Order: sequence, then C-alpha cells, then structure tokens
Amino acid sequence: MKKYFYLFNYPPEEHDLCTLEFKYLFHENYQQCFLTNKDIDVNTSVFIKGKIDIWAMDKDFEKLKEKVQKQKHNYQEFKIIYLKNPISHPNYQETLDKCKEISWFIDGSVNMAKPLHTIALTKVSDLWVIGYYHHGVPSWKKYDDKPNTFSNSLDIRLARTLINIAGENDISKTIIDPCCGMGTVVLEGLALGYSIKGFDISRDISWKARCNLNHFGFDGMLITKDDINKHQGHYDVAIIDIPYNLYTPITYQEQCAIIQSARRLCDKLVLVSYEKMDQEIKEASFEIKDRILRKKTELVKFGRYIYVCY
Ligand SMILES: C[S@@+](CC[C@H](N)C(=O)[O-])C[C@H]1O[C@@H](n2cnc3c(N)ncnc32)[C@H](O)[C@@H]1O
Repeated sequence: MKKYFYLFNYPPEEHDLCTLEFKYLFHENYQQCFLTNKDIDVNTSVFIKGKIDIWAMDKDFEKLKEKVQKQKHNYQEFKIIYLKNPISHPNYQETLDKCKEISWFIDGSVNMAKPLHTIALTKVSDLWVIGYYHHGVPSWKKYDDKPNTFSNSLDIRLARTLINIAGENDISKTIIDPCCGMGTVVLEGLALGYSIKGFDISRDISWKARCNLNHFGFDGMLITKDDINKHQGHYDVAIIDIPYNLYTPITYQEQCAIIQSARRLCDKLVLVSYEKMDQEIKEASFEIKDRILRKKTELVKFGRYIYVCY
C-alpha cells in the first residue's frame, strides 16, 4: 500500500515549473494527485498544497471504516476534513456524511474551530483515502523579507524551486551559487538543509548577501567575494542566475565565459537566463536534459528560461 498522498496546486503559468520540479523531487511523471511511498516534507515545495500520511485506502467505504477502527487512533482536539481534489467530485452532502461516519472510529475529542490535529478523507477516482493531514504553509515566505535586495533578485518561489530541481531532496548534495547576488538562492538552500555556498564578483553585493544570511541566523561567511572564472572547487550542482546586461553590465563573451567556467565547477548545472542559450550551453560541453520557460503571467510571452544540464 502507498504511504503518502500529495495534492499539488499552482497558477496556470507555473505548470511547467511545477512539473519540472516534480520530476527531480519524485523522479516520476507529474500527477496532480500523487500516491507514493516517498516522504517529502509538505513545505519543501511551494506547489504542494497538502499531504496525507495514509492510514487506509479502499474502494468500499465500509471496509475503510473497519480498517480505521482496527488501527485504534486516538487524538485530542481533532477535526476531519474532506480534501477536495481535481479527480473526483462527490457531492458536498456526501463528503460531510462520510466524514461524520468515519469520525466515530477515531477516539479522542473533536475541535472543529481550532483543531490540534487534522484528519483528511478524500476520494481519488473510486478509491477512498484517509490519514493524518499536513497543510502546506508558506513558511518559505519568511526569507522574502531580507534587509538587502535589488531589482534583479529572483523571487523566492523560483529560488526554492531551483533548489529542489538542483538538490532532488538529497541534502548530502553540495550546491554552489557562483553569481549569488543578494543570496536569495543560498537562503532557500540553507532553509532546506543543504550544504550550500555562494559568491559574487561584486564586493558590495557579496557583503549585502552576507548581511542577509546573518539576519536570518545563518553563517554569513558562506558567501564570499569571488569570480567564477577564478574560483577553485568542485560541487555536485551549481545554480546560476546568469547576469544579463539590464542591471549588471556584462558582455555576451562574459556570459559565455561564466557558462564555460561552470563546467569546471559542477557535475549538474541549473541555469536561469533571459534568453535561450542552448548553443552556448552545448559549446561549454553540457548536455541539456530539460528546458522550460517560466513566465510571470500567462498572458506575457517572455520570462526566464530554466535549464537543467549535465
Ligand atoms: C542576475 S544577478 C543574480 C541575482 C541573484 N540570483 C539574486 O536573487 O539576488 C547576477 C550576479 O552575477 C554577478 N556576477 C557577474 N559576473 C560574475 C563573475 N564573473 N563571477 C561571479 N559573479 C558574477 C553580478 O555581480 C550579479 O550580482
């Protein structure tokens, strides 16, 4: 029996980003309702809306009740919810009735207003699923409020997603952000428990990024002033938000040199760019495994390209 049920949610323009992250976190094809044995904290991804630690599953609701009864669950101040999902749509009254029916088989006390524990019931196609519920809370938003920022900083939703694509939920991986700007990606990596460092060629910017890390209680010395073209070291993954000639003066040749230097630095590269850079990436001897365009809204044509290369 599968142990976990995950429900995903995203704005339409982030469909490709969500499926790309899913591929690297779960190593399976994307499913909006996902039954698996893989245990990932509900707050790891900005796209996970909720997670159920499954107690029982059955097509027959009577048998589901029997299974729950046998497990003798006991919770003080619990509540049962029906978790809506995009696959099955039982009517509202049925969901209320089923939640009430099964609640008789859970010992303890009920608190509908401020429960300490939430139990979720859901129906996926013809299969009833019940278990302990974890609701995704946007705890990752915390690092949005950093003391130093600039207009070309990545948004934190994207920063966290890049970490998941890079690290694949394996915190033993070493990650480097060699053009780290204000340290947005480094902060998200540290929050998720990775061994991550960053550097930036600019003295002023790297100092500000260091202050950002200190502000959140992380070791500011994980950020240094350095040039990717001179940096010595090797990491499992590099995440590069390539400088573009909008806020940071940079030539096309310098952009190419950064990608060339990345080859020396890492086994896997997650690259963010404003323009397609397939040719430049291949010329640096990387193989492109994935490329998506992440747009700000569904209506605009432009956005940022995200490449995953080896
Ligand atoms: C697009 S910004 C990165 C923004 C960052 N992701 C953030 O969220 O704040 C690119 C950064 O690359 C840095 N940079 C440019 N050339 C570099 C080089 N050769 N080595 C290291 N950093 C470099 C710039 O100073 C700039 O801060």
